[in-house]
Amino acid sequence: MSAVPSPRPVTAPEFRAAKARGAKLAVVTAYDYTSARLCDEAGVDCILVGDSVGMVVQGHPTSLPVTLDEMIYHTKCVMRGARRALVVADLPFMTYQVSPRQAVRNAGRLMKEAGAHAVKLEGGVRARDAIRACVDAGIPVMGHVGLTPQSVHQMGGFKVQRDTEQLLADALAVEAAGAFSVVVEGVPADLGAKVTGAVGIPTVGIGAGAGCDGQVLVFHDMMGLYPDFKPKFAKRYADLGAAIKAATEQYCREVREGAFPAAEHTFR
Ligand code: KIV
Repeated sequence: MSAVPSPRPVTAPEFRAAKARGAKLAVVTAYDYTSARLCDEAGVDCILVGDSVGMVVQGHPTSLPVTLDEMIYHTKCVMRGARRALVVADLPFMTYQVSPRQAVRNAGRLMKEAGAHAVKLEGGVRARDAIRACVDAGIPVMGHVGLTPQSVHQMGGFKVQRDTEQLLADALAVEAAGAFSVVVEGVPADLGAKVTGAVGIPTVGIGAGAGCDGQVLVFHDMMGLYPDFKPKFAKRYADLGAAIKAATEQYCREVREGAFPAAEHTFR
């Protein structure tokens, strides 16, 4: 939220208020204690326990198979590593679409059992009743419009979304339903900027250009850990995949040659 983050924990109202101050928001996904702790110590404003866990951790081609119990497990791990960042947990596919009551019940489990500070769910106009019901129950909600990965089969693939009218209607519906922020995914940069200008809540872009109020990246994409797919928008800040491979090759060599363990790794 600023170049030098305050040590105080970030709350949903503070996250929302960052827009009025013109402060850019840095968000990253995490699914476990270690990465959450590293990202938190690095100063991210928000950690998203995304259902992208289904792809980058579980190895599925989409996020659709992820269950609520799995999201609760991963959120619990992240909560142990996060001190300052706002932790938002994704409601996975078919855990909120059936009815607003279902949305509240399952969002409540992410808050009560896993300790999440807020939940995220996908959809604009069609998700507004679910968002409103959660907000009325005291649960902060982050919306998600544009390319919504849980609708991958309906969209015919992970495709850039270009319908300006639909996107604006969706983002405005999310805001009107009481969400404190909204992820805008996979839209042309001018559309990302247009939505950002149209809503009073912060937009968090992923593949939505520099005009958004914040950005989110998937941890495995930014660290070079996910070899299956490299989206155009995902800047690689490190090549940990190559580093891990090289280190593991060296370990295999040293074990086979008898060079590991050495004296300093041995009890006397
Ligand atoms: O699941 C996820 O990681 C997400 C981000 C891509 C925004 O929803």
